[in-house]
Amino acid sequence: MERKLIAAGNWKMNMDYDQGRDLAKAIVSGLQPSDALVILGTPYIHLKNISGIIKDISNIKLAAQNCHQEESGAYTGEISAAMLKSCGVEYVILGHSERREYFGESDELIAQKIDIVLKHGLQPIYCCGEKLEVREAGKHEELVGEQVKTALFHLTREQMKQVVVAYEPVWAIGTGKTATPQQAQEMHRFIRGLLRKKFGQEVAGGTSILYGGSVKPDNAKELFSQPDVDGGLVGGASLKAGDFLAIASSF
Ligand code: PGA
Repeated sequence: MERKLIAAGNWKMNMDYDQGRDLAKAIVSGLQPSDALVILGTPYIHLKNISGIIKDISNIKLAAQNCHQEESGAYTGEISAAMLKSCGVEYVILGHSERREYFGESDELIAQKIDIVLKHGLQPIYCCGEKLEVREAGKHEELVGEQVKTALFHLTREQMKQVVVAYEPVWAIGTGKTATPQQAQEMHRFIRGLLRKKFGQEVAGGTSILYGGSVKPDNAKELFSQPDVDGGLVGGASLKAGDFLAIASSF
């Protein structure tokens, strides 16, 4: 199982319909075949349209930013895994710290979402990471270890092969304060170690672990050169085609 190098964009709640279409088109026209696998994590309204825009390009895929944990039914305002699949989505970002913080998502709930996404043949991008006070107390490994165990350790090895992990220290998200390459490497190595103990070397070695938190064109290369950092989950810098393309060619 080969580990993929990935530049994933998380547009969050940005880009109206026309802006999203234009951004996707600009990324498609600037992407080089040698670039990493690019994943566009867009708001729901863009998914179907952008799946058409990217359909002939093998190294661009589409992600949703959330998904409901039930199959279907009376959940007004929610979107199911089957709906995402029907729009050409291949990945789903789950457990982002903003979902945890503003929508009260727990790792137990995120585990349910991971299950339904996998059931429908989609790949979760599972986000974990500690807040500043946890890091300052020296408890970041403990906390992230708990997150990973609760959300992922019930999976089979075959299921785990479908999961992408994103380590996103909350203190680095949208703050301009990036983790140092050493801090990122330390945590990625720790996470891969947990996966190795639970799922074995083949699965752990093949799992892409992305770093997220103020990834920019000028810090991407150094972060991605760390042995256990397999790419980035990029927020702010994914909204500008030039910046995002520069990050996608920083491997
Ligand atoms: P940022 O966001 O790149 O704007 O820090 C990253 C994320 O939240 O995934």
